[in-house]
Amino acid sequence: MYNTLDIAQEYGIEERALKSYLIENKIPLVQDSGINEKYFQAVLSFIENTDNRIEQKLNKAHETFKYNSEQNKISIYQDDAISFLEKLPSNSVDLIVTDPAYSGMNNKLQLGKGRIVGNYSEKGKEKGKWFGEFEDSEENYTKFLTECKRVLKKSTGHIYIMFDSYSLLSLGSIVRQYFDVKNLITWDKVNIGMGHYFRRRHEYIIFATNGNTRKIKNRKFPDVWRFKRIHNSEYPTQKPVEVFQAMIHASAEEGFTICDPFLGSGSSAIAAIKNNCNFIGCDISDKSLDISKSRISEYLKNNKDILQKNSMGVDDNIFWE
Ligand SMILES: C[S@@+](CC[C@H](N)C(=O)[O-])C[C@H]1O[C@@H](n2cnc3c(N)ncnc32)[C@H](O)[C@@H]1O
Repeated sequence: MYNTLDIAQEYGIEERALKSYLIENKIPLVQDSGINEKYFQAVLSFIENTDNRIEQKLNKAHETFKYNSEQNKISIYQDDAISFLEKLPSNSVDLIVTDPAYSGMNNKLQLGKGRIVGNYSEKGKEKGKWFGEFEDSEENYTKFLTECKRVLKKSTGHIYIMFDSYSLLSLGSIVRQYFDVKNLITWDKVNIGMGHYFRRRHEYIIFATNGNTRKIKNRKFPDVWRFKRIHNSEYPTQKPVEVFQAMIHASAEEGFTICDPFLGSGSSAIAAIKNNCNFIGCDISDKSLDISKSRISEYLKNNKDILQKNSMGVDDNIFWE
């Protein structure tokens, strides 16, 4: 037996609206608030179609940008990734695409005293690091994945998580405890980067599903993606919009809700808008929110991406022909 108040709180809907739906559909209530398990599927489809439930549940979070049009809704918040995900209703997001700020990689790069990637003291505020880090301990990562799993739609949800080589080796296997890992994608950045040994030219992306039922949209897509890296970006670690577009082309339909809890410069949001999807995201840093807000507003107003003027694709026909 389920309770209407518990369902309303868990899924971010109004109890009143749920009760009206039950009455309209002649679903009997036991002692005014109990729902028999056999009706749960019907209740879930009502929840899925309830507009604004994410907004309702997030009304206490610190929203910094919101846009609502007929095609899409875009909302970004300033928050820690885990605390933000905890505020989202269960079973509410179609697709997570994200690129966390792993602390391991930052620490590793710091060993080079900044020589490898430039002058840290100029780039960020905290202890000379580029940006606030996400503690990539097993315990913290487990919390993060638990929340990703909860908010992602069951059976149809897809998730893409980016990894550098260090974090892939330490955290990648944990993803399997939560999701069905389908691919380890290599993002080939075409041009080599910094490094004391072999010069870095790639990152990894784990693609996984939340249950097994929904496939990607096109079986022609390869698991090596060639998009040029962005040099001298205004926001450190800004990724090409095309990397996120490839994920969205493979895994989203128009109108899907896409979530990125490590927003950075907002490349994933721009990719979502280009594909007529809804977007919800957060970042902990002031700089990220400043930059992504103006980038998203400008794109919505003038269709112009102020941080990435040119396409970074080299064989982009595969993804968007
Ligand atoms: C690798 S960057 C993301 C870059 C982004 N994909 C882009 O294209 O610009 C990681 C981001 O995570 C943010 N971050 C670090 N710790 C965080 C936390 N605990 N919660 C949310 N965001 C965090 C950083 O401020 C940084 O903007």
